[in-house]
Amino acid sequence: MTKKTVFILMLTTLLFACQKGKDSTEIKIDKLISEMTLDEKIGQMNQLTGMGLSDDMKEQLKNGRVGSILNEVDVNIINELQRIAVEESRLHIPLIFGRDVIHGYKTIFPIPLGQAASWDPKIAETGARIAAEEATSVGIRWTFAPMVDVSRDPRWGRIAESCGEDPYLTSVFGAAMVKGFQGDKLSDSNSMAACAKHFAGYGAAEAGKDYNTTWIPDVQLRDVYLPSFKAAVDAGAATFMCSFNDINGVPSSGNKYLNRDILRDEWKFDGMLVSDWGSIDQMISHGVSANLKNAAAKAIEAGVDMDMMALAYITHLKKLVEEGVISEKIIDESVRNILRVKFRLGLFENPNVKPDSNAFYKPEAIAAAKYAAEESAVLLKNNNLLPLGSSFKTVAVVGPLADAALEQFGTWSFDAEPAHAVTPLKAITDMYGKQYKIIGEPGLVFSRDSNATGITKAVAAAKKADVVLVFAGEEAILSGEAHCRADISLPGLQNQLISELKKTGKPIVLVIMAGRPLTIEKQINESNAVLYAFHGGTMAGPALADLIFGKVIPSGKLPVTIPRMVGQIPVYYAHKMTGRPGTNFVTIDKIPIGVFQTSLGNTSFHLDAGDKPLYPFGYGLSYSTFEYSKVKLSAKTMEKNGKITAECTVKNTGKFDAKEVVQLYVRDPVASLARPVRELKGFEKILLKAGESKTIKFEIDATQLGFWHEDKTYYAEPGEFQVWISKDSQSGEAVSFKLK
Ligand code: BGC
Repeated sequence: MTKKTVFILMLTTLLFACQKGKDSTEIKIDKLISEMTLDEKIGQMNQLTGMGLSDDMKEQLKNGRVGSILNEVDVNIINELQRIAVEESRLHIPLIFGRDVIHGYKTIFPIPLGQAASWDPKIAETGARIAAEEATSVGIRWTFAPMVDVSRDPRWGRIAESCGEDPYLTSVFGAAMVKGFQGDKLSDSNSMAACAKHFAGYGAAEAGKDYNTTWIPDVQLRDVYLPSFKAAVDAGAATFMCSFNDINGVPSSGNKYLNRDILRDEWKFDGMLVSDWGSIDQMISHGVSANLKNAAAKAIEAGVDMDMMALAYITHLKKLVEEGVISEKIIDESVRNILRVKFRLGLFENPNVKPDSNAFYKPEAIAAAKYAAEESAVLLKNNNLLPLGSSFKTVAVVGPLADAALEQFGTWSFDAEPAHAVTPLKAITDMYGKQYKIIGEPGLVFSRDSNATGITKAVAAAKKADVVLVFAGEEAILSGEAHCRADISLPGLQNQLISELKKTGKPIVLVIMAGRPLTIEKQINESNAVLYAFHGGTMAGPALADLIFGKVIPSGKLPVTIPRMVGQIPVYYAHKMTGRPGTNFVTIDKIPIGVFQTSLGNTSFHLDAGDKPLYPFGYGLSYSTFEYSKVKLSAKTMEKNGKITAECTVKNTGKFDAKEVVQLYVRDPVASLARPVRELKGFEKILLKAGESKTIKFEIDATQLGFWHEDKTYYAEPGEFQVWISKDSQSGEAVSFKLK
């Protein structure tokens, strides 16, 4: 052996020893990074929106200046762009194509808020799986979902894409969606990288106005806004997205505490963090950066790996390295995170996609979308009207959303095709038109319509009918990003339409299709039955038809509180007790004239709204009825590291086989920090035959009882705890145990 061979052998052994412990992907990433120029590294960190096959884009790809493209959906263009990146760029690194595939790609499921109302995470998982199968068939391997922002303000348009107000429910649903999108293996060609967004606190936007500032104490951030993100990490979410808002003055794209200290150091997230659209440059507008260069430096220091559409990294990072402001090491870390996701997706081995014209609207996808819409509708009221029996011969179908294919998709349905949506009017006519005479008369053309001429026709139709179905609510465009409302009542002349219909004396079924809770107390009072259906997607019509005529029994429960008045907001079930809980209400009309100041009870309520919402979180009726037994605990005391079981027997006391969502809540009534009056800790959706009983058991351990303390520690404090197993967040009787 020559000296040279011995030296090479030693070197290889040494290198091998250093690499030992690293998995093969990390070794490949190391090798690739060692070959990359600084420009190529920065190119990977740059995400651009699709520009088709423009010369500019082709040139940028050849020069390795783009790591990802979003919003390109033409499979041939995607394949060609990918070919250029892989074959014509120096290092052959594939692109990753991203898109907001939020609640379906072609086959649209209910909006996430609606899916959460099913309280069946399997529905969200299946919906995400189907979305992934459809979207990956055109080459989209990265979705910007799930959105796991806890949302307690229905004015905020983005509540539609959330799973509602509760950290636990949001965590369970977010994790289910991650699982669905990512499938069995991320490298499967029909798997998509999920993206937990928007990190973090976005739902706390002041006044429910999108992009608005937030002020969130650390204990609240950790108790309320972060658990769903942690659950997404635990579920294996491949990527995260920053939020637009600032928290306590620090915009998320420049927030080292969130993105490095918590996400990377505490949670050990090793995926990729992308900014939101232009959120790096928006640090200028926030008033924390004087220019784009400074914003780029702040973002990379805070650990944002990829710049979505701000062009901050591609324009300034190189100079920042050359000037010594940013180290190349920190850039390598980000590139490593990006390449890791690309390797995990198998993009290096299989960069292209085989077009599949049969990928959309498969019968099983359509059936799943219908099932999801059925399970998502919440029955708020039923004065013995639903399900409609055969005594109703003529049915008037009215309201601006009765036959509005586009609107029932809800927000984030870029790729949906109205021709494939089945509206309530069409479904009722096709499915029940033989048994019943159906008269369709919208009354209003769209939800904001302020032209009253159609109302007269709708009233005439109602007069000819035995029952009136009113499909009211909001068009899709009235919720979603940047579509916030200060007045969340029914828009346009819908209230007038309902009052006029009420005057006919005909029984009214009100079906609300909306992207948020609406303040509709009066309209509910005017109706005999009310179904809250959110925006139900492609199959909203058939699902609602079967619910109304009783082929399907409603089983949804509210994932969010419905306020009586907008002025009650924020109103959510897990509020604190306050020092003077609301009692002895004196409503505004009952206050005697000239009365002395302290005669009003001096407790926490609104003179004009009391202290209760219209419907609480977790609420929802069925055509059947359920009785809950008293809760039994397996022990009166829980050891510090022990467990107890809480059980309750639920009986279907009605006439229909039906599903019920059994909910577990706890409260820590005396703690070092005031705790919420109740917190959801578990739930189970069960099917009970008429007359059947089932005993539901929940295990409780100390980790579920803890909370974050000001010194950034999480633990449960010893003492008494209350437990409810109930049908919603307000009913039931508490039992107690002691934690040692
Ligand atoms: C939204 C994100 C979305 C991104 C890309 C932004 O405006 O806030 O939720 O994923 O655009 O479309």
